[in-house]
Amino acid sequence: MSENTAAPVRVALVGCGPRAEGHARALRLSSDCELVACCDVVEDRAAAFAAEWGLRHYYSDLPTMLKDQELALVDVATPAAVRLPVVEQVAPAGVPGLLLEKPLAMRPDAGYRVLDLCRESGVQLYVNHQLRFFPPIQRFQEVLRAGKIGRIRMVRAATRWSLLEHGTHLFDLVNFLFEDALVPERLLVQASGWEEQAGMPECPTHTAGVLTTAEGPRVYFECGPWAPSWPGTINAWHQAGIDIVGSSGVAGWSLNRGWWYVGENGRDEERYEHDALDDVAQAALFDNIGAALRQTSPTLEAAAIDVPTDAARSAWSFQVVMAALRSACRRSWVDALTPVSDKDVDRLHEVMPEPLPESFVPPLSPVPPIDPATPSEPVVPAQPVVPPES
Ligand SMILES: NC(=O)c1ccc[n+]([C@@H]2O[C@H](COP(=O)([O-])OP(=O)(O)OC[C@H]3O[C@@H](n4cnc5c(N)ncnc54)[C@H](O)[C@@H]3O)[C@@H](O)[C@H]2O)c1
Repeated sequence: MSENTAAPVRVALVGCGPRAEGHARALRLSSDCELVACCDVVEDRAAAFAAEWGLRHYYSDLPTMLKDQELALVDVATPAAVRLPVVEQVAPAGVPGLLLEKPLAMRPDAGYRVLDLCRESGVQLYVNHQLRFFPPIQRFQEVLRAGKIGRIRMVRAATRWSLLEHGTHLFDLVNFLFEDALVPERLLVQASGWEEQAGMPECPTHTAGVLTTAEGPRVYFECGPWAPSWPGTINAWHQAGIDIVGSSGVAGWSLNRGWWYVGENGRDEERYEHDALDDVAQAALFDNIGAALRQTSPTLEAAAIDVPTDAARSAWSFQVVMAALRSACRRSWVDALTPVSDKDVDRLHEVMPEPLPESFVPPLSPVPPIDPATPSEPVVPAQPVVPPES
């Protein structure tokens, strides 16, 4: 993070739950942004949060906060189902920037409306896909860009959490690894069960399917408790990863371990602990947005800055996830880019088959947790991979 002498970008948080704590820690680390106020419909929660983070202003009413505070960025960490009502209040208020925690929305109509409202009102919209700001993940993208495993033929992405809990992160990351150049074509998705854990997004418990892309690889994915586990730390939240098969090697990344590749001309890996980097990555995201907002707000200093979590790139994973729900509901191939409506997924809950019993959940990998003091060991076979017949 660079030294910055310009006036800080004034940020207010909406929703003062556990995730907001992470945002507040990151805002402390940010050199560009400053948390100045918070709002929660539960007033006591807003008051406690303000006391914890030394904020002079807290609110239980969003319009009052928007009227009282001169804000550059509203940062929304409400539950996923509460996005559109917040955006409907923020968009006309003249705030230059809006950051929404992922997912963009739970339902297709709400998500498209959020995108339209921000476009129409000129609010710069960002979605909190902070994994794009993890330095090791950026280095992994560089490995693929450098062609270390050749031309990419196939991707397998999996998480133990549902499509709307972790799936949006996972799809966003797949697209990031391909430098946002994947053009989705068609999806075939099967789903089962219905998420019933309190606080979890309402969607199928388990989703598995394939996404075809124009002139790109097929992306096989699985989101839910029956997905494969990943060797590495056994924190259940960190069970998410991506395997990639190229024309001259294989590569992979998982949230509970790091990345690795084996190619014809070499191999490498980088291990890291997700939690040790999350606040730093989140702070980098805030700095990036802060710099971009200086460009768009006449009261702030100008800077030509691209933000990789902007509305256009975030809409990619939202569209794919919504089209996946549509395919699961229809039980047939669907065009991945055709807009989805609530009607397309309304029947989803009723048509879902019963989930598999708990006993079918594959056990977590027995690989012990990472000990940072232990030097990295190879995680893949020593022999070079024989390129598949093309
Ligand atoms: N990017 C990540 O890695 C990551 C990690 C964890 C959670 N999340 C996301 O962050 C979001 C919040 O997660 P959480 O666990 O803190 O949720 P939570 O439900 O525990 O807390 C949300 C807070 O928002 C408040 N709220 C609800 N409606 C509101 C409204 N209209 N105005 C103001 N406040 C309102 C609630 O009272 C609550 O205090 C979710 O969308 C979740 O998916 C993202």
